Amino acid sequence: MAREFSTVGVVGLGTMGAGIAEVLARTGVRVVAVEVDDAGVERGRGHVEHSTGRALAKEKLTEAERTELLGRITYTTALADLAEADLVIEAIPESLELKARVFGELDRILKPEAVLASNTSSLSITEIGVHTGRPGKVVGLHFFNPAPVLKLTEVVRTVVTEPDVVDDVVAFAQKLGKEPVVIGDRAGFIANALLFGYLNHAVSMYEARYATREDLDAAMRYGCGYPMGPLALLDLIGLDTAYEILETMYAQSRNRLHAPAPILKQMITAGLLGRKTGRGFYTYD
Ligand code: CAA
Repeated sequence: MAREFSTVGVVGLGTMGAGIAEVLARTGVRVVAVEVDDAGVERGRGHVEHSTGRALAKEKLTEAERTELLGRITYTTALADLAEADLVIEAIPESLELKARVFGELDRILKPEAVLASNTSSLSITEIGVHTGRPGKVVGLHFFNPAPVLKLTEVVRTVVTEPDVVDDVVAFAQKLGKEPVVIGDRAGFIANALLFGYLNHAVSMYEARYATREDLDAAMRYGCGYPMGPLALLDLIGLDTAYEILETMYAQSRNRLHAPAPILKQMITAGLLGRKTGRGFYTYD
């Protein structure tokens, strides 16, 4: 019988974790949302309130639905509060060491049948899973930014993930209103493997002063119908996140397309991370 994921934990409430918590709560799932400290909890709560406020303004949600959605999320700083969760989705920073530690702790806290998922976009699910005593119940569940809006979820299976776990997570993603795709554990999965060569190429063109940032972006928006140009999209993703994804893919593929354009590192060092720091390729209020 298919698993019911009625209580779901989200660990890490940055842009992605908060967006995932919102998606879950919107579908009626009880969410236990975990951050490391009170400031993190307040930041996460702020993300969810801001995003659902926008959805309300755009008439995607009614006031009553928004109140119910917010009421389904319990915030905490204690991983131990996840003991009853049927599924936990981890969305903490992209460090294997950190994720290994959190997965090890979750493995001790959760029920033996609970499923563990990582929203990582650049690390190996296999390497994360081996830090638990249940690697067969570990999957990737990769959402796209902004998670409440974009429909894709990549469900990543490793060589040891149990097939029924994959099936149940796919069915759950569908229940959330997403379009799941299933992929093996390869750096970049499907979408990033295809997307980041293009984004990196746009950065190289910008670095070579081949065209202005506005014209590079306009070409892809008006010529190819993309909702955002590549440089605006990098600002949304975060230049630090983009750099990590490129580096991981380059280490695995040695494909020159994925060798991060040097200016990316310079911008990161200078604190120009994109929207989250108010400045990247563009400046934000
Ligand atoms: N809940 C439900 N709906 C919401 C919402 C919410 N919280 N917030 C916004 N929406 C809806 C809006 O109502 C709007 O719907 P309509 O078009 O029907 O009116 C729609 O979402 C778009 O929202 P906005 O009008 O606020 O914004 P926009 O039209 O300027 O679009 C965008 C913004 C969604 C970001 C769009 O530009 C876009 O899709 N850009 C591309 C993003 C992309 O490629 N992301 C992938 C990045 S790669 C990644 O994430 C993977 C990784 O590992 C790094």
